[in-house]
Amino acid sequence: MEVTNNLLSKIATNNGHGENSPYFDGWKAYDANPFHPQRHPDGVIQMGLAENQLSFDLIQQWIEANPNASICTPQGASDFKHTAIFQDYHGLKEFRIALTNFMNRVRGNRVKFDPDRIVMSGGATGAHETMAFCLANPGEAFLVPTPYYPGFDRDLRWRTGVQLLPVVCESSNNFMITREALETAYEKAKLANIKVKGLLITNPSNPLGTFLDRETLKDLVSFINEKNIHIICDEIYAGTVTMGDEFVSIAEVIKEVKCNLDLVHLVYSLSKDMGFPGFRVGIVYSYNDNVVTIARKMSSFGLVSTQTQHMLASMLSDDKFTENFISESRLRLARRHDMFTRGLAQVGIGSLESKAGLFFWMDLRRFLKEPTFESEMTFWRIIINEIKLNVSPGQSFHCSEPGWFRVCFANMDDETTMVALWRIKTFVRKNRNLEINTKRQYWQNNQHLRLSSKRLDDILTPHRMSPHSPLASPLVRAQN
Ligand SMILES: Cc1ncc(COP(=O)(O)O)c(C=O)c1O
Repeated sequence: MEVTNNLLSKIATNNGHGENSPYFDGWKAYDANPFHPQRHPDGVIQMGLAENQLSFDLIQQWIEANPNASICTPQGASDFKHTAIFQDYHGLKEFRIALTNFMNRVRGNRVKFDPDRIVMSGGATGAHETMAFCLANPGEAFLVPTPYYPGFDRDLRWRTGVQLLPVVCESSNNFMITREALETAYEKAKLANIKVKGLLITNPSNPLGTFLDRETLKDLVSFINEKNIHIICDEIYAGTVTMGDEFVSIAEVIKEVKCNLDLVHLVYSLSKDMGFPGFRVGIVYSYNDNVVTIARKMSSFGLVSTQTQHMLASMLSDDKFTENFISESRLRLARRHDMFTRGLAQVGIGSLESKAGLFFWMDLRRFLKEPTFESEMTFWRIIINEIKLNVSPGQSFHCSEPGWFRVCFANMDDETTMVALWRIKTFVRKNRNLEINTKRQYWQNNQHLRLSSKRLDDILTPHRMSPHSPLASPLVRAQN
């Protein structure tokens, strides 16, 4: 193997892709034995995939009603040649306009993005690499609050040689990003002689499913301005926030605080809000003119196919459709979230209160034999091999505390969700002895945590609450 590797580049053969993590191991376990209700009812259920599949019926209806949006239908074929030969790396103007309109709408039209600042990339994955390439030299670093999306280790680091340094966030304050944690990480880098070039945040957060309030965002903007470093905001989950709750974009906050706009950059994609990861539509949106120019030159490496741009330009400029899609999708996500977390609450399993994302952050600390990452792995193997669910362990998100797991809930149908819930409930009821802390001790030790299964409650009246509402569950009792 070593001989073979000597024939190849060091970067290509290093471990930078990160495939050796438990995050990807879970996917492999699923691939080896995937659940199917009839063919493999005992298979592994994939709950490690942040996909938004709950509103595809709406997309299909639109596609059927708009055959001229495709260049492969009799109605749209006259655009085939023009679309097939177009390859300008600025992208189709109508696509950029439609995309910015969509981005504005997702943010409640409180911001107005400029289509000329849109730079295309192969998904947010490509956008992150572009950002790292534009902003930092090999060996320089970005601070990243933990827990964070494991793909960042690959996207920002692998080919650029850039480093990611954790900003340690903890459950004691619901994993909030504090000034103190930022300063500590910054000072640590300085002591190690590492030049910090920026702060990378994901808002709403993957894996937490939470989003930042205006004050925290303002504080982050002051921090990066004081240090004269960049901020990259990944807002890929902006459109998954529960209806009635207001997502605040960095694009809003920079209008309200003094800020060097050359330091501010957004990453976005249609992989989550629209549920189109296969289309590889990602973008860099920078307020820095030089970054826009350089990133655009780089976009030759990850252009979005013109066929995709053409179709999406049509779909995303249909205001009635996008308005309805966003609100319906947000409602369905919240319902699914509640269905799952309330079901878990019935057997005393809590999660971090969250109102966004395609996942929640499940608290299984009391099932660990010891509060160590080894114990977390041991319990994760039980989840994969016995309960047959692929949920992702916190350590793969660089979480500083063992016992947290990310559970994705929007990549499956209701029936599969019920099977997953049933499996967990059955396991917990059969294995009460696995719980190391008594419930009483557990809750006493965690008074500071706001553990809740509620996501929809603010907008739904009681008669629409889930039939699985854990009115008598230990979780609710503990909150009272
Ligand atoms: C926070 C975050 N950023 C980026 C990505 C990659 O997205 P894309 O499919 O657009 O490359 C993901 C995917 O899960 C993600 O969660």
